[in-house]
Amino acid sequence: MPRPAIAIALPRDEQLPGANALAEAGFEPLIIEQPDQLDEALAARSDVALAILDGETDFDLSLEYYALLHENGKNVPALMVVSTRSLERFIGAAAHSATDDEYFTRPYSAESLRWRVEAMLIRQMAVDDGSGPVLQGEALTADDWLRRGTFTAVFNPKGGVGKTTIALNLAASLVAMGRRVLLVDADTITGHIASSLGLEHVRTLVDAVADAEGDPFAAAEPLDELIAAHPSGLRVLVLSSSPLRADLLDPAKVAEALALARRSHDDVVVDVHPDYGPLNRAIFDRADRILVPVTPDVPALRAAVQFRDVATDLGFRDKLAMVVNRANSGVSVADMERTVGMPALASIRSAGMLMVKAANEGRTVIDLFPRERISDDFRALAETVSGRPRKESKPGIRGLFAWREPARAT
Ligand SMILES: Nc1ncnc2c1ncn2[C@@H]1O[C@H](COP(=O)(O)OP(=O)(O)OP(=O)(O)O)[C@@H](O)[C@H]1O
Ligand SMILES: [Mg+2]
Repeated sequence: MPRPAIAIALPRDEQLPGANALAEAGFEPLIIEQPDQLDEALAARSDVALAILDGETDFDLSLEYYALLHENGKNVPALMVVSTRSLERFIGAAAHSATDDEYFTRPYSAESLRWRVEAMLIRQMAVDDGSGPVLQGEALTADDWLRRGTFTAVFNPKGGVGKTTIALNLAASLVAMGRRVLLVDADTITGHIASSLGLEHVRTLVDAVADAEGDPFAAAEPLDELIAAHPSGLRVLVLSSSPLRADLLDPAKVAEALALARRSHDDVVVDVHPDYGPLNRAIFDRADRILVPVTPDVPALRAAVQFRDVATDLGFRDKLAMVVNRANSGVSVADMERTVGMPALASIRSAGMLMVKAANEGRTVIDLFPRERISDDFRALAETVSGRPRKESKPGIRGLFAWREPARAT
């Protein structure tokens, strides 16, 4: 089975030896010569497991590459090749960001670079799955990386600001882009995603846990059997349909299972109840990103500020991004960004009765009213969230992936 792709943005004289050593180990090396190429590679494929960057020749260029690896909720780890001299400078510049990055000092041999990559991938997988035993000596294959999706929670502690609306229509827009999406109704108190989508008699995670037949979390893909298919292609999981039984769920196990679902989905979008209970805390902890819908009114803005402060205390503030909902009210997005202290990823206008009509038909707005302007807003949000701008991929990009180690004589 093919192993994942490794992007290599090193000076010319180091590119080929590194690429050869990685190709020999079965990886697919992608030679990157400028930021555009890395940008395109990351947009076009999801099996780029890490990028090897040069940390000293052109510092600004390195930071540009680095930013691409981490923009829009992506978290592709970087292996930064530096001299001992520039190590400190780089660590200083990247200190605020992801922790999966590592440094590798010159001079080095191509073989040692390869082994460092192997070690990083093993650590990454261990972190990604939250446990070592998943690995159990298996070789890591592209399969492990191919569907390394993103776990996005949608939260604001204030009720009625549009969490469910945004989760639902974001998920539907991502499906319309051809992505495999799991939408999770983790609002165990007032969740209504299944009914809004016209899905009936959905078996919930609580049902499975309450069932004496066995522990659903023991399965390799714990959620798989519980996922309901909506005709649009959206995959839907409901945690509980009864607030009284929600306590049967172990928050850490649920959050873990949701994180694991990234293996088989491009996007895992999770709608939650407005509270700071243990289930939500566990979800915040495991999510890659938390979208915070905010309507332009003082209570919603206050609630968002409170959440920002809570997130700061709990150490996940950098996961937060605001989505301005009912945006066409005259309050400027810049003012809201200043007030809340979070960047706005997107704005969704107010759509009046369209929401109600869609819900009554068991469809999403973007599905039932694709030409309405609010559907454009949701699609723009989906494009930002997925990191894929709505532009045609340049034909030249294919050339990037054409590089292969020449067949070795046997
Ligand atoms: N942009 C919008 N245009 C029109 N109606 C909207 C918009 N966003 C949300 N609504 C409506 O506002 C109401 C509340 O939205 P929603 O249920 O998504 O909020 P919520 O934050 O999930 O609420 P809760 O905290 O109770 O779960 C719904 O009736 C929804 O249809
Ligand atoms: Mg809701």
